[in-house]
Parts: sequence; structure tokens; C-alpha cells
Amino acid sequence: MVKINPDRLLSDLRTLRTFGTYKTGVHRPTYSDIDMQSRRWLVERMTDAGLTATIDGIGNVIGRSPAPGPKLLLGSHVETQPHGGWLDGAMGVIFAIEMARAVAEDPALQDCGVDAAAWADEEGHYMSFIGSRSFIGDVTEAEIDGVESKHDGTPLRDALASAGLAGLPRAVLEADRYLGFLEAHIEQGPTLESMAQKIGVVTSIVGTWQYEIIAEGIQNHAGTTAMSLRRDAGRALIKLAHAIDQHFPEIAAERSVWTVGGLRLEPGAPAIVPGLARMLFQFRDADPRQLARFAAAFDDLVAAVAADDPCSITAKQLSASTPSLMHPGFQDALSAAAEQHVPGLHQRMPSGAGHDAQILANVMPTGMMFIPSIGGISHHWSEDSDEADIVIGGQVLATAVGDILAKGRA
Ligand code: GLV
Ligand code: MN
Ligand code: MN
Repeated sequence: MVKINPDRLLSDLRTLRTFGTYKTGVHRPTYSDIDMQSRRWLVERMTDAGLTATIDGIGNVIGRSPAPGPKLLLGSHVETQPHGGWLDGAMGVIFAIEMARAVAEDPALQDCGVDAAAWADEEGHYMSFIGSRSFIGDVTEAEIDGVESKHDGTPLRDALASAGLAGLPRAVLEADRYLGFLEAHIEQGPTLESMAQKIGVVTSIVGTWQYEIIAEGIQNHAGTTAMSLRRDAGRALIKLAHAIDQHFPEIAAERSVWTVGGLRLEPGAPAIVPGLARMLFQFRDADPRQLARFAAAFDDLVAAVAADDPCSITAKQLSASTPSLMHPGFQDALSAAAEQHVPGLHQRMPSGAGHDAQILANVMPTGMMFIPSIGGISHHWSEDSDEADIVIGGQVLATAVGDILAKGRA
């Protein structure tokens, strides 16, 4: 059986947490100085694990095993949400490195190997999943030219140049190198904890469609401009947000979710009627037909609010990830490993969060595993998991990895 070294795993995870510490969480936006420092540190850890490690032209850190036989690719992302948690993405990356070390130390698997990856910008500071999409050949140079920061409009090209990545080649998947891809992650929701379970074996991952909506009105004095004469960009978008919340429940499926995650009014002062407003909106579902239904309804609502409001309103789709199913054989391997280490304390479940695994699933067998999140909190600096649960998750993953690699010889 492949055996992890819990102290080594936890020590690396704790070190990664120090890159961008914010309260008990981490603030590590993609391509920031601290993010690039963490990527260079990962190159060192991967090299130390016996992998040949590089950072590619989009920021992916990839460590390749020299093993001649069957190989698995494992990984997750290393940047965080603004003021986010220390485990979202980071745990899956450190698990990948630990799996590479543990497989290399297993006398029964000397011909087998694990490649480790930290994909760039899963969290979408610029463009969600751009690293894993680039790896599967799904990102053109023209697309990179058109992307900018969701926070401050910095062009992605400028961010890549400042990060020292301009001109570097982008890594691409080598055909037939892998038996498949595995990603470990915290659940980021309350299901496992509330059912006192230790492992979630992911069955499917939602698709997420994101939009930026801009309303343009006229900035004016909030005391002297009569209500009937206002072109209030803020009010226009608040009306739209309200209309979405009224209408979406009527067409939603059981696990559909939608969020207005950003709303900015310009110039943003109590005595000024806002002349410009910007809203960031997303919805998620595991069924592509439901996503299409929401998209059509959203377009209709934008048109209806725009028709009834003196401001101009325009909506632009920022991203549209496709839902995906996890590989049945990998689900079985993860469930069997969980049954061995925590009998009866595991379950199969869909993922409401997006993950790089849904991108890799387009090109190879892919599996995903969750450990419990304390209080179901994530995308917040207080996100946490019990260290004992992290160690259990690491060992379950190692057992599944060993099983898949051994079978891959056949
Ligand atoms: C990924 O972080 C997501 O927002 O689902
Ligand atoms: Mn996240
Ligand atoms: Mn994540």
C-alpha cells in the first residue's frame, strides 16, 4: 500500500499558508508577487520530490516524474480568492506532491509515477481555469490578449509580463502519458461534517456561467435631482438583481444556485446619483440544459429592465464552464480506498464548487475526492479542516493512487 508521511504533508501545507497570510487565511491573487513566490517554492518542493519542475507561460507549475511506467497526474490550484482560505486548492497541490513522494518510496511501484500540477487562476482573478484549459490546448493567444483582471482591469498580458512569464512556453498535455487525473479538495460545504463522514467521492461537478453587467446613467447631485429626472445607474442594476431573485426560483432545479458577487457604484458617495454601475453575477448547475434555461432568462430580464429604465444596460458573458461527470472507475477506486481506511464514513456526492478536474475530465479519466470543511465555510479566511481529516484524506488518496497505478500496468 502507498503510505503517506503525515508530518511531511502537514509541514508543506503549513509552509504554503505563510505565502500571503491574512488573519487565519490567505490572500494570494493570481500572478501577484506573493503568488509567484509560492509558485517558485512549489518548484523547489517538486524538485525535492524527484520531479522535473517548471513554471510555464501561463503560470502552471508542473512537476514530471522520471518513472518509465504508468503515471497519474494530480493537482489543484495555488492562488486563493481575495482574503480566502488556506486549504482551497493548496491542499490538492500539496497532496499531489506527497503522492509523488509516497509512490516513489513504495517498493512495489518503482516503475510507476505521479506528476504534480498547480494550475493557474482556477479562482478566476483573470479567467477561471485558464491554466488547466491552457494545458488541454483550449486557450489561444488571442484569448489571452483579450483577458483582463476582474478587480482592476489590468490586461492579462501585463500581469504575465510583471510575473516574469512573458514569452515562456505553455505546457501542453502529452498524449497517452497519463492513466488519468485526480484532484483532492476540501468540500467547501457542510454535507460531510453534518453527516459525520470523512470522505466525499465526487460524482459530478457543476458548470458556472459568469457575467459582467454595466449600467450607464448620468452622475448628478443627490439633493437637487428630482426622482423623475434621474438616470441612476445603481438603481438600474439593483432592479435587475431583484428581478433575477424574483424570477430564478420559478425556473430553478433542486441544486441550482445564483449569486450577485459584486456591485460597484461610481463614484460611490451618498450625495451623488451614481452615473455608472457594475455588477458581477453567476449561476451554477450540473445540468447543461438548466444553465441554458438560466442564460435565456437572464438575457430576457436584462432586456426587460433596460426597456423600462432610462439607463443603458449591457451584459457580457465572462466565462461559461461546462459541467462534467467523474470517471466511474476512479469513483470506485476512491470509494474502495475510503472503505478500507474509514469504513462506512464516506459517500458519493456532486460538487457545487468548480474545480480544475472538470477541465481535465474533457481529455482523460478524472476523479475527485473531498474531505470535510469545518462549518462548511470556504471562500473566506476562516475556512479550515481538522488536521486529522487532512491526514485521512491523504492516506485514502494514496491508496486509490496505488490501486489505479498497479491496475494500469495490466
Ligand atoms: C471555485 O473556486 C468556485 O468558485 O467554484
Ligand atoms: Mn475556490
Ligand atoms: Mn478550489
